Amino acid sequence: MIKATLKSTGAYLPKREVSNTELEHLMDTSDAWIQERSGIQSRRFADLTSETCSSMGAKAAAQAMSAASWNRNAPDLLIFSTLSPDYYFPGAGVLAQRELDLPNIPCLDIRAQCSGFIYGLSVARAYIESGLAQRVLLICSEAQSALMELSTRGRNISVLFGDAAAAVCLEAAPQPQHQPRFGLMDCLIHAEGAFAEELVLKNPGTRNSPICRPEMIETGEMLPYMNGPAVFKHATKRFHEALTSLAQRTNIPPSQWDWFIPHQANQRISMQVAKSLSFPEEKVISNIHHRGNTTSASIPLALHEALTEGRIQPGDLIAMAAFGSGFTWGAALLQY
Ligand code: COA
Repeated sequence: MIKATLKSTGAYLPKREVSNTELEHLMDTSDAWIQERSGIQSRRFADLTSETCSSMGAKAAAQAMSAASWNRNAPDLLIFSTLSPDYYFPGAGVLAQRELDLPNIPCLDIRAQCSGFIYGLSVARAYIESGLAQRVLLICSEAQSALMELSTRGRNISVLFGDAAAAVCLEAAPQPQHQPRFGLMDCLIHAEGAFAEELVLKNPGTRNSPICRPEMIETGEMLPYMNGPAVFKHATKRFHEALTSLAQRTNIPPSQWDWFIPHQANQRISMQVAKSLSFPEEKVISNIHHRGNTTSASIPLALHEALTEGRIQPGDLIAMAAFGSGFTWGAALLQY
């Protein structure tokens, strides 16, 4: 049987680090409030005069492709996940394709927000296992500081999120005989649109005509909205469900996972989920303290950093799970 395997990772972080103290000068918030509620101490913000969602994604992808020894003709599918694309349309995938000078391969954009990486893995897996693709480049990039208002009005969102990009190269490989634990072993995804408006950026959207009106800036209609407590409640429940289901489907209990990489939404959510699975805290990979919530980039960024630091070793079993706007959620089990 053909499996999707992780060949390499890459990442790009904007240089500008924004501390909680810096945010204290811009809005009514405090370092103590942010750290206590989320675990975040600082995050990176892109230089929006020169960095874009697609350009950061292309840089992360170039690093991943180089690490995989892939030339420009190697990938036969590009998947791009973001909630903060350069343009309303076309998607950021074709812009990254152009920047990477890739040939005319299909570019598929994914809009599953914080679950984008898991959704992307699931699509890549389907293409690879069906034989439709041999090598898939999956890019996750977020320039979400462009969407946030650094003011007291926008504080419940703007203290949590950061900018970053990460990419993975996935390759088809035959599963060796007598080695059931190999490559991307399972990936499950879900959604529940009933809660679409609990974490949402409605404008510009085609429900409004014209899609942009000057007063929308004044009224805050162009800012993201989040019902924080509702998101927290659903996230902890869905993370737990997805991971339990992953353990059942693969017949590999959490006690046998070497690592758990949660979507970095909030340190409290990650720890609550780990506890609910009796999974040891020290095996939960977290980078939220200095990255914030980087939405779809968060899992591949944490994966890249853990690989670079040598924490994850060849053969390790890595469980991953995400939850986000939609609501969408999912989980995956990968043997590295
Ligand atoms: N600084 C200081 N105070 C803030 C604040 C900020 N940045 N943002 C909100 N507050 C205030 C609120 O206005 C509220 O004040 P009030 O009691 O006077 O009305 C108070 O803090 C509590 O707000 P609440 O939203 O109930 O806080 P909370 O304890 O639920 O924590 C979150 C807020 C957002 C940190 C928390 O709900 C959370 O983590 N939710 C999940 C978010 C998430 O993971 N999103 C990404 C999903 S992918």
